[in-house]
Formats: sequence, C-alpha cells, structure tokens
Amino acid sequence: MSLKLTFLGHAAFLLENGAHTLAIDPFLTDNPTATKDPDDIEATHIALTHGHADHWGDTVAIAKRNKATVIAAFEICNYLAEHGITATEPGNPGGRIATPFGWVAFTQAFHSSSYEGRYMGMPCGLVVSMGGVTVYHCGDTTIFGDMRLIGEIYRPDIACVPIGDRFTMGPDLAARATELIRPKVAIPIHYNTWPPIEQDPSTFQPDGVEVRVMQPGESWNYG
Ligand code: NI
Ligand code: MN
Repeated sequence: MSLKLTFLGHAAFLLENGAHTLAIDPFLTDNPTATKDPDDIEATHIALTHGHADHWGDTVAIAKRNKATVIAAFEICNYLAEHGITATEPGNPGGRIATPFGWVAFTQAFHSSSYEGRYMGMPCGLVVSMGGVTVYHCGDTTIFGDMRLIGEIYRPDIACVPIGDRFTMGPDLAARATELIRPKVAIPIHYNTWPPIEQDPSTFQPDGVEVRVMQPGESWNYG
C-alpha cells in the first residue's frame, strides 16, 4: 500500500499511485495559496466535491489538456459536457464508481453547490480508494452524525477536514467531526486562503487522531 498525496492549497490535492493521478478540487488560478499553475498539473482523473468556484477551479483547462476523466455530481457533468468535456463519471451521494486506480464514492455534505447562479447538484464528500489507501475528503460541510457511519463503512486512513469556519466547520466542530470519522490521520483544509477563513491549525485537536498539517505544495508518501 502506498499513495503520494500533494496538498495544492485550500481543498485541492493530487493523489498518485504511480500509474494514475487524481486531482481533487483543483482550484489553482485565483487561489492565493496555490504553489502550482494549472499547466503544471498532469492528471488522469479529476474528482470534484461540488460546483463552487473555489473547488471547481481549473477543472475545464486541466481536463481538456490532460484528457482526464472527471468524476463529479450529475449536474456538474452536464455542465462539463456543454463545455466539450464528455469523459465524465457522474454520480450522487451513496454511489461508488469503479476507476482504473480503485474507486471513488460520493458521500453527503451539508453545504450548497452552484456556479455563476446555476444549480450544480448535491454538494458531496468523496471517499477515494487508491494504492490500497482510503482517503475521505469531506468537501465543504458542517458536522453531521452520519460521519460516524461513513467512518465505520469506509475505514479511511486519511480524512481531509475543513477547519476554516464561516462556510464550513471551524476547528472545534472539525475536531468533533474527526472524532466521529476516526481516521488514522486528519489533514486540515479550507483555511488561511483568505481573511474570512483564517485559522490557526494548531487549534484543531481531535482526541485520538493524529493531525498532519500540510503546507501548500507539500507532498507526503503514505504507507
Ligand atoms: Ni463551497
Ligand atoms: Mn469552499
């Protein structure tokens, strides 16, 4: 089991198993914390939690240049088709999609999802199995009791948990959420991108779960 995770800033990650590369929520242009340019991203797949611009980001450009398959809510995939991207895997919460690297499952998230006024389907969290490692990217959400169930069902090694407050959980709620999910390691995300979501990640202290604070551009080989 091995997986290389690279944090791209905000909620964006690259997951690599050597054969495939999955970009999650690749928001780089206009992301003040991003250390990479969309033209630097080599991805075979892109997965999106929801349609807000700070997650959707550079999906169209990266998908077109790489001919990457996009895994996202049904409504987001319809939007992509209108923009010339037909290699999509549409889904909705509860669904699990087999991929060449493993699978991606959609969970619920309590949030909204729109782009330039258009409804973009249900906001989601994503559970990814790649390289024998399971990652639960919570998306943008508040805490909900079924995070315990998601943790029991998928047994994630890693959870990426928003801590920025205002639009998602803040550090205290995020810690409670992480205690429900019970991953081996939690990575705080969705903070310090702009002043309204400034947080000190050292205040994110879930009981019994190791926290790994990643800097934008930092990579980690897990397993
Ligand atoms: Ni959002
Ligand atoms: Mn967001």
